[in-house]
Amino acid sequence: MMNNTRPDHLPQLKRADFASDFRWGCSTSSYQIEGGANLDGRGESIWDRFCATPGHIRDGSSGAVASDHYHLWPQDLDLARELGTNAYRFSIAWPRIFAEGRGKAPNQKGLDFYSRLVDGMLERGLEPWVTLYHWDLPQTLQEQGGWANRDTIDAFVGYADMVSRHLGDRIQHWITHNEPWCTAFHGNYEGVHAPGLKDFKTALQVSHNVLVSHGRAIPAIRANVANARVGAALSLHPLKAASDSAADVAATARHDGLRNRWFLDPLHGRGYPADVWAILGDSAPMVQEGDLAQIATPTDFLGVNYYFPEIVADAPGVGVMSTRVIETKNVERTAFGWEVSPEGMVTLLERVARDYKPAEIYLTENGSTYDDVVGSDGQIDDQQRRSYLVRHLAATREIVAKGIPVKGYFAWSLLDNFEWAEGYIRRFGLTHVDFQTQQRRLKASGKWYREFLRGDK
Ligand code: FCB
Repeated sequence: MMNNTRPDHLPQLKRADFASDFRWGCSTSSYQIEGGANLDGRGESIWDRFCATPGHIRDGSSGAVASDHYHLWPQDLDLARELGTNAYRFSIAWPRIFAEGRGKAPNQKGLDFYSRLVDGMLERGLEPWVTLYHWDLPQTLQEQGGWANRDTIDAFVGYADMVSRHLGDRIQHWITHNEPWCTAFHGNYEGVHAPGLKDFKTALQVSHNVLVSHGRAIPAIRANVANARVGAALSLHPLKAASDSAADVAATARHDGLRNRWFLDPLHGRGYPADVWAILGDSAPMVQEGDLAQIATPTDFLGVNYYFPEIVADAPGVGVMSTRVIETKNVERTAFGWEVSPEGMVTLLERVARDYKPAEIYLTENGSTYDDVVGSDGQIDDQQRRSYLVRHLAATREIVAKGIPVKGYFAWSLLDNFEWAEGYIRRFGLTHVDFQTQQRRLKASGKWYREFLRGDK
């Protein structure tokens, strides 16, 4: 591993290097932190069902209790305030609002929970940034075909309408979907996320229907929320070809087509990338008249979740795209194996700004996982995570200096939580959670973020 993580080698940063209205926050998501799976009328989600099958989650766990945020949220919001953040990104569990995904009457107790939570943010000076879909689809909808069924689009619009009607007086910032690539491909092609399907054609239809649901939810949200600001959060990756060979360069372009442009292009009014479409053949999704215009409904910002770059090689016969992501040696990586590359974030955002010109960009997620050790003094001295954070904020400063309209940064995550297929093995929090006692302890990385944000270094 490259030895550039020593604290004395880290760039110097201060909050004053950024605009005074820059949004500083942490991100979380409902299924990963809430727990309270059977409380107050919450219905089953596809993640409850997925976790119940042995072999799906590495440690055999689920989000049934998770970080018990359903009960401990006042303490968690206190933590966010104490860090000095001015914004907080969270998601709503759709099955808390409609246990079966749709209906005339919402579950009032579910709405009340989020209403209290939002009030709690406002009382603490945290601007709420809500995500409507961070992967916990009501199981009933999955039984009717899930996102592959267009009826789920209508259900999502009904849900977005209900939530924005009830919370829109207090929430200005709305993120329709978190990482549609993951919804589609992790969930329906690779089968590593709920609902655990392994069908490429289904995954592509899911990606399309999710994008349509994004576009169709926007007018519903705007109708209910004065001055609403709406966008989607995409997982994007800077890519490099494994070699200069024409084959690897072409493979990288194909990989970029499905990983990045498949979502960026239609959202920005360009339809699906023709080069990808040509490869898909029978797997291409059914697109109805008007869909592309709806997907391209203007938004106010683009959310970018950035974690790592990828190196791509030509791999004839591997998957539909004939590409392979390769792992190079001598590269700094997190415990997940994800390459650490703040410079990749710079290249990525330069590219997004140049090619798509979003009015505003928010880094809606960025963070790292390491094998944290609780010292005998109870401290978690996570210098690698601290270094990751410092270097990515330095990269953010560089991006802003280039004139790219990045207006906010949300660290993933406020708390250790249920990391999907990895269960509780992977900790991403700036705050350590002891899952036996639910005790929270700020890690060294969180203390650094606090010092940075409060300027009392
Ligand atoms: C992102 C997800 C988020 C979390 C991080 C580590 O892909 O949006 O929920 O799992 O990865």
